[in-house]
Amino acid sequence: MLLNGALVNSCLIPVLQAADADITTIEGLGQGPQLDALQTAFLACGGAQCGICTPGMILAAAHLLDKEPDPTLEEIREGLSGNLCRCTGYMQIFDAVAEAVRRRNCA
Ligand code: FES
Repeated sequence: MLLNGALVNSCLIPVLQAADADITTIEGLGQGPQLDALQTAFLACGGAQCGICTPGMILAAAHLLDKEPDPTLEEIREGLSGNLCRCTGYMQIFDAVAEAVRRRNCA
């Protein structure tokens, strides 16, 4: 999740530390029923299989794209490196982030 704009592992944040903080979870990324470009790119590229890692991957990618709107593959790998995926082999995830960047640049 994003806590006051910082990427954190939600399971490691004591609840009192989150009190009165600005918190963004995967549910808050899109606009109501409209998915964010990252979410649609994950769907299009097969970046989610079981879905366990997906919220963390997408929020880490959103944090990365806020800091670096046109990342290289290496920057994408580094930006998502705190998240583990047992399903995809990572390439679909990296492709999804790159696809979201392409979609944002074409919009
Ligand atoms: Fe299953 Fe990543 S999609 S752990």
